[in-house]
Amino acid sequence: MTVTTNPAEGTASAGAITTRRVAAGALDPHALRADFPILRREINGHPLVFLDSASTSQKPDVVIDTVSDYYRAYNANVHRGIYTIGEEATAAYEAARAKVARFVNAPDSHEIVFTRNATEAINLVSYSWGRRNIGRSDTIVLTEMEHHANLVPWQILVQEKDGDLEFIPITDDGILRLDVFEVLLRLKPKLVAFTHVSNTLGTINPVREMVELAHAAGALVLVDGAQAVPHLPVDVQELGCDFYAFSGHKMLGPMGSGALWARRELLEAMPPFLAGGEMIREVHLRRSDFNDVPWKFEAGTPAVGDAIGLGVAADYLDGLGMAAVRQHERELVAYALETLGREVPGIELYGPMDPDLRGGVIPFNLPGIHPHDVAQVLDRSGIAVRAGHHCTMPLHERLDLAATARASFSVYSTTEDIDALVIGLVEVQQVFGE
Ligand SMILES: Cc1ncc(COP(=O)(O)O)c(C=O)c1O
Repeated sequence: MTVTTNPAEGTASAGAITTRRVAAGALDPHALRADFPILRREINGHPLVFLDSASTSQKPDVVIDTVSDYYRAYNANVHRGIYTIGEEATAAYEAARAKVARFVNAPDSHEIVFTRNATEAINLVSYSWGRRNIGRSDTIVLTEMEHHANLVPWQILVQEKDGDLEFIPITDDGILRLDVFEVLLRLKPKLVAFTHVSNTLGTINPVREMVELAHAAGALVLVDGAQAVPHLPVDVQELGCDFYAFSGHKMLGPMGSGALWARRELLEAMPPFLAGGEMIREVHLRRSDFNDVPWKFEAGTPAVGDAIGLGVAADYLDGLGMAAVRQHERELVAYALETLGREVPGIELYGPMDPDLRGGVIPFNLPGIHPHDVAQVLDRSGIAVRAGHHCTMPLHERLDLAATARASFSVYSTTEDIDALVIGLVEVQQVFGE
């Protein structure tokens, strides 16, 4: 695919994007696979079957070319150069911020802070907002299904401040117990922080309802959107939350890109997270004035090319239509749950069995075979799945599981990928004589 770059507007556009949608608004994964060069690779003599998109997604040509084009044509630092390529880089960087803001329907692009990933976005909130607002005996409510990125920063904070953590439990099939949440809210927590979509079980949490309950109890709400923004329509205004964190590399964007959205008045009241260049307006030997938001939170030289690539990834997904992306992944989930359950003897599947309640993530185990062995044997056939605790050790403890294997999808995933997984798993069982 050829990429037209217009750094002055901060756009690199892929002409073919809109052709990837077929008439009824549905998404054609077979057609758009051509945009992802890595999917043409063979592994051990087999076509790559990439079923680890929850870990990181693959990148379309348009994103790869945009990043490469930045380095080839207008690599320069931002907000500094009074020369052409510096101005081009700055314009493209700020245009990317506007694209990302539009993608999650932020009311103001200055409410988007570029970070390296969701982890950094959550740490920004825990260090900046958290250290100013959480004190002795204050409570933060989390859930049992959090990724370590939305757990460990809060552990560190409450240990430092002598505060408390409480957890919304889950049912055995991975649904949050909202009845218990309502009881926990009587503790008047300062913050409720939870994942929009579970990276391990796939559960899609009822964000809006939870935000309403939390706000009625006086708490602010942080949503970890790392597994939602790439897979379903996200509108931060409709969700009503206060902070929303996500990673660029899981949404077809470059590694090292991510963002925090937060309401402007919160960002303005928050002290800087990291300090140094870029985040200041004036510096004297003994004191400094800080920059406006969002730059106050972007100390040092940012990952300019990665941010620009993230903007293009957002455009790419927008071109597909996030409702169509969600519909596609919902169909894959339904197909996978049904086919795996029917064709792979004894397979254990975890998480909600209703595809309406679940994103494109399928954790499973083959009884008697360690998930690492499952993943290793599948790799012989070019099938990539993740095995382990998926950065949710407490959730695995809750479910009494040492580890799981996990297949996860993205826009380019197909039912043929799932068929290959089914055949691969039956072979794994043969290898281990099960
Ligand atoms: C739900 C969830 N939150 C947070 C993260 C952390 O993302 P990153 O490693 O990009 O910071 C992940 C990564 O897998 C995730 O799945």
